[in-house]
Amino acid sequence: MYKVPRGTADILPQEQAYWRFVQGKAEALCHLYGYQRLDTPVFEDAGLFIRTIGPTTDIVEKEMYTFQDRGGKQLTLRPEGTAPVCRAYLEHGLNNLPQPVKLYYFASIYRYERPQKGRYREHHQFGFESIGDADPALDAEAIDLAWQFYSSLSLKGLSLKLNSIGCRACRPDYIKRLRQYYEPHISGLCPDCRERLEKNSLRLLDCKQASCQRLALEAPKSTDHLCPACKSHFDALKVQLEALRLPYDLDHRLVRGLDYYTRTVFEVQPPEEGAQSTLGGGGRYDDLIEELGGRPTPAVGFATGMERVVLSLKKADLPLPPIPQPRIFVAYAGEENRDQALALLYELRRAGIGVTGAPVGKSLRAQLRQADALGMAQALILGEEEMRSGTVLLRNLATGEQVILPRPQLISHLRPT
Ligand code: HAM
Repeated sequence: MYKVPRGTADILPQEQAYWRFVQGKAEALCHLYGYQRLDTPVFEDAGLFIRTIGPTTDIVEKEMYTFQDRGGKQLTLRPEGTAPVCRAYLEHGLNNLPQPVKLYYFASIYRYERPQKGRYREHHQFGFESIGDADPALDAEAIDLAWQFYSSLSLKGLSLKLNSIGCRACRPDYIKRLRQYYEPHISGLCPDCRERLEKNSLRLLDCKQASCQRLALEAPKSTDHLCPACKSHFDALKVQLEALRLPYDLDHRLVRGLDYYTRTVFEVQPPEEGAQSTLGGGGRYDDLIEELGGRPTPAVGFATGMERVVLSLKKADLPLPPIPQPRIFVAYAGEENRDQALALLYELRRAGIGVTGAPVGKSLRAQLRQADALGMAQALILGEEEMRSGTVLLRNLATGEQVILPRPQLISHLRPT
């Protein structure tokens, strides 16, 4: 028997109410804030991701699904959604529209990770990007939209972590100071961090090993080494977040796992700790579009893992709006009446009334048992007597109450008012 590949999952019918609820809230908020949907392909040129995410990140070094197609091209299943949106922005001349251009997406994402709860090899993201404006008001809008999204789902106890990691003018000096701080402590670092010290020193700050965390607590803070432009950007952002009453916590260890970020970075975390539990994250990436060959174009965005949001919703045990399903079952007595039952089934569907039923070769009693098992509210029964008199019997399956209705009145009787 084949099984679903490791780190992937089927989304079964009983799960769909969660997904629909989350997508509905996301979409409604994006439209409220003036974001438009963009869909991009599942795979892109491998180079797009290597260049933007960064060659020394975990994603590029260990996690990408890259393959050669039959034409010899190196393609990668998208390991994140921001670079494809920027590629599309440039490719379709969206830079010629009034800026910022605000786009959102739902996308499947592929990372070859060690699967565990909340961490998969295929996951799905809801994300949005606001491209073409450097003003901190756009950072505040992105953070607000992310926060309102979780609030609209009634998720409680979340925290909002905020940091600024500077720009290409001020970050090199900060990195130098960070290395100077860590060098005397090399022996106290985990093996991964010893490697990171050379290749990707910022990531030392968010290592989850206890000994590295202790060192990170005392490490120099990027916010103490911002250039004047980054500092005033960050100060203005904090003022706006306060005006919006968004309860952020400054976290100097927040650096994110992709290299394209500049200035603002933020994450939303659930009440329990753990790397695989971060609900969503984002930030500013002012150099990414230039990296792809465009003019310097500032941008800011955010993405959240749908599976993690669904896990949090399940934990919160909130009532969800049900997905509409037929509540009426068409049953018949006697095989000779089945064609009439089928005709009735389609007549009702054409009239916009959800119905199911008319199975083949089952006794009336077995059909009604099936209707019960499916949780149907009512059964429409066509028996000999009904055929003769041009009526149908409508039975309430919960109470057993029944009425006989002339066929011509059936649709108006059933149609929801
Ligand atoms: P990211 O932090 O790598 O950011 O992913 C965003 C969210 O996707 C995470 O917070 C998490 O909820 C979810 N996620 C990531 N990896 C997995 C996984 N293996 N299994 C389940 N869920 C996962 C980005 O991808 C950026 N593109 C976000 C962004 C948009 N930055 C600016 N614009």
